[in-house]
Amino acid sequence: MRFSILSFGCQMNAADSLWLAQALTSMGWVESPREEAQVYILNTCSVREKPEQKVYTALGRLQQLNPDGFAAVGGCVSQQVGDGLLERFPFVRLVFGTDQVGAAPGALARLVEHPSLKISLLDFEERYPEREPAVTAAPGRPSAFVTIMQGCDNFCAYCIVPYTRGRQKSRDPGLVLDECRRLVAGGARELFLLGQNVNSYGLDASGAGVGFAELLRRVARTPGVERVRFTTSHPKDLDDATIRAMAEEPAVCPQLHLPMQAGSDAVLRRMGRVYNRTQYLDLAAKVQQARPGVALTTDIIVGFPGETEQDFQQTLEAVEQVGFEGSFSFCYSDRPGTAATALPDKVNREIQLDRLWRLQKLQDVLTRKVLEDQVGRETVLLLEGKSRKQDSEESFWRGRDPHGRVVNLALPPGKDGSGKLVKVKITHAKNHSLTGERIGELW
Ligand code: 5AD
Ligand code: SF4
Repeated sequence: MRFSILSFGCQMNAADSLWLAQALTSMGWVESPREEAQVYILNTCSVREKPEQKVYTALGRLQQLNPDGFAAVGGCVSQQVGDGLLERFPFVRLVFGTDQVGAAPGALARLVEHPSLKISLLDFEERYPEREPAVTAAPGRPSAFVTIMQGCDNFCAYCIVPYTRGRQKSRDPGLVLDECRRLVAGGARELFLLGQNVNSYGLDASGAGVGFAELLRRVARTPGVERVRFTTSHPKDLDDATIRAMAEEPAVCPQLHLPMQAGSDAVLRRMGRVYNRTQYLDLAAKVQQARPGVALTTDIIVGFPGETEQDFQQTLEAVEQVGFEGSFSFCYSDRPGTAATALPDKVNREIQLDRLWRLQKLQDVLTRKVLEDQVGRETVLLLEGKSRKQDSEESFWRGRDPHGRVVNLALPPGKDGSGKLVKVKITHAKNHSLTGERIGELW
């Protein structure tokens, strides 16, 4: 069978989609361009604005493209809308929830055998649902995802994740390390540990007495692992032990995504974030002190219910004070079933967009400043692949520095850089990326 996967949303979904592609490939299925596929898998996200609509539109297009095919819908929208999707779209023959990714390949095989069948897999599991380990290695990829937990127990007032991904379930540390070793054996040099709230790893019923800091150290010391990154962190759970591991383990990258969400105490309280502005700023300073030059990035929601212009000013000030290297910012949107939908004083759309624009302007300046600061410095890139731009004289490659910044680089034609490390000097800063020149051999 020929399949095509459409993946929306976060890195957890991206990791699930990669696993699905490998699992299906190992069944003899072939990943194909959309026009040629017989089965479509949509891995959906419902964290912000009109996500269902996006999925419905995509389904309509795919059905038009190939009326004889069928679709499977996984991820957060399917968890939320559930069997309604099967009823509403005859084209959809499988819905699978976020804990059921591992069961999807088997279900797809049954659907192919039984053309009148439809399947719904929406249960949450009590423990982390392990998948067929033989297909976790992604051969040839220098950077690999490793999911270490699933779900979230925080119930921030705006967030649908605890409803769509269920309660927090940590994965067994031994199995996480097994997977890391398999990935390294398959060629990975960088591992990206994933979870909704990685800092509370181990602190749930499935935990096995190993906390995040310890897991991070063990992964970082796995032979062959050159770089480790992780996301997402929660300021209330990022502890000293983890910060120490960041400072002491050379393989742990100087990069931290630490969602702040807002810079005003009143807004943070209504969001249920369990930290205030000062605590956040102190924590960011502590990380910067422990790992000088660390690249801090964040998530910000503007226009949360009741956010005043003064509240927003405090967000701008906090963003400036930390000097984030990058931020993802969003207009607040009501998500069904979350606590914030019931809050009064919703902020109107124009004001939200105006605040978003102002925040993004500030961020552009901060990002630009960090990138310009890199010019003239030497660093090491892990090359991920060729960039889109190519010419006959040189071949252009894309890599990342330890901080996670994208750096473009020219290599002589015919030189295969993929998965290689290379020392470079940064020569140029653009708005969102850097250019470097090679000053050493590839290894
Ligand atoms: N509205 C806007 N942004 C949201 N996020 C989560 N829920 C919402 C919502 N209802 C943002 C948060 C989170 C990121 C993944 O998405 O900033 O950190
Ligand atoms: Fe959502 Fe808050 Fe959990 Fe993040 S920590 S997934 S924002 S509930």
